[in-house]
Amino acid sequence: MAWHPHLWHPTTQVALHPEPLRVRCAKGCLLTLDDSTPLEGSPSSSRELIDAISSWWVTLHGHGEPTIAAAIADQATQLEQVIFANFSHAPAEQLASRLAAHTGLDRLFFSDNGSTAVEVALKIAWQWWRNQGSERRQLIAFEGAYHGDTFGAMALGDRSVFTDPYDSLLFDVCRIPWPHTHWGDATVEGREQVALAALDQALTTPTAALIVEPLIQGASGMRLVRPEFLRAVAARLRDCGALLIADEVMTGFGRTGALFASQLAGIQPDLIALSKGLTGGFLPMGGTMASERLYQGFISTEPTHTFFHGHSFTANPLGCAAALASLDLLEANPEAFSGFEARHRKHLEHLQERKAVQRLRCLGTMAAFDLAVGDTDYLNPVGRQLQRHCLERGVYLRPLGNVVYLLPPLCISDAQLACCYGAIDAAIDAVTN
Ligand SMILES: Cc1ncc(COP(=O)(O)O)c(C=O)c1O
Repeated sequence: MAWHPHLWHPTTQVALHPEPLRVRCAKGCLLTLDDSTPLEGSPSSSRELIDAISSWWVTLHGHGEPTIAAAIADQATQLEQVIFANFSHAPAEQLASRLAAHTGLDRLFFSDNGSTAVEVALKIAWQWWRNQGSERRQLIAFEGAYHGDTFGAMALGDRSVFTDPYDSLLFDVCRIPWPHTHWGDATVEGREQVALAALDQALTTPTAALIVEPLIQGASGMRLVRPEFLRAVAARLRDCGALLIADEVMTGFGRTGALFASQLAGIQPDLIALSKGLTGGFLPMGGTMASERLYQGFISTEPTHTFFHGHSFTANPLGCAAALASLDLLEANPEAFSGFEARHRKHLEHLQERKAVQRLRCLGTMAAFDLAVGDTDYLNPVGRQLQRHCLERGVYLRPLGNVVYLLPPLCISDAQLACCYGAIDAAIDAVTN
């Protein structure tokens, strides 16, 4: 197979990366490859791969989940799309009410993906202060944060190889340390105190908002913080009246073992950005939940107080139908996500004995460790080597540099999960020898 002459793939360097594998169909955890795809080293009969990272963390229940597929098909015969500025519709209204009940935030603003859900949160927070004539201008974010690839989201995220070319175009953000932790970490409390002292110092400047990926920073390497730390952060923001934005694009919809990571951490944000699992991973859709207090700050006979933001596909009815069906599944079987962590743990305990495995961590459906090989950055080639070895064993992973992680769909069977860990175990031998 050659690179397609008319496609441009995301975060892919054609000069360095192997050609993409062609997928014909997918069901549950399994991606079935097109017959024309060569799979080096794999048994020729096996054209199936376990999707152990839920296709960039979106496929929540499993590929082709039948009730979500049926809900989309049904909705498509009734109303596939309508402009959302002058119109409303039942799927959007039902979804807004149900998400309000789950998040404690009364208003839902729709967008198209995780980056735009963050942009919307940022713009609401910023304009809310402005509508009140406030001078609060500071935004606070964490070291290692990732909030998306659009400009506002890039500015909020930490600077990295992803943002370097655009550095001079990105606005300033006050950045404070992220005291991430792992199994057996004896120094976390000290590092939390350092981060909180930095926050105290930052908050001496009038602050509009702080944005956080609650409990897990995803893209920077599945880096966990303790709920205690987030509660201390939220308390400080409350004391000085700054807004708290939770970016739950990755952590939302059961990924951390609770429906939302903010709930697990015991914090109540003013804004929550959602996407990825929102539609069960079927359709691209973003949503920003906002408190009623923020919403009311835009209600005025003064037209410039309007929130002038909208996307062509705002509140697409197909996406709403998928999201409602996905919520039905989550509500009907919360054990599928709340009990997931125990399934990872028994495999991780075995991995813990390996010298090359460091900083094991696990939360809900996410398990990760650092491979003690070379640099700890995204460009460390060990991740791609490990990926290749796992593919040969029928498992698709996408390490973040030397950070190896799993974030599988909820439907993964015990045997499939064991197969993933078996592949990782063998791949570690291959890349460390
Ligand atoms: C925490 C977080 N925020 C925002 C985004 C951006 O989402 P999208 O890729 O849908 O724009 C991501 C994507 O990985 C993410 O993990």
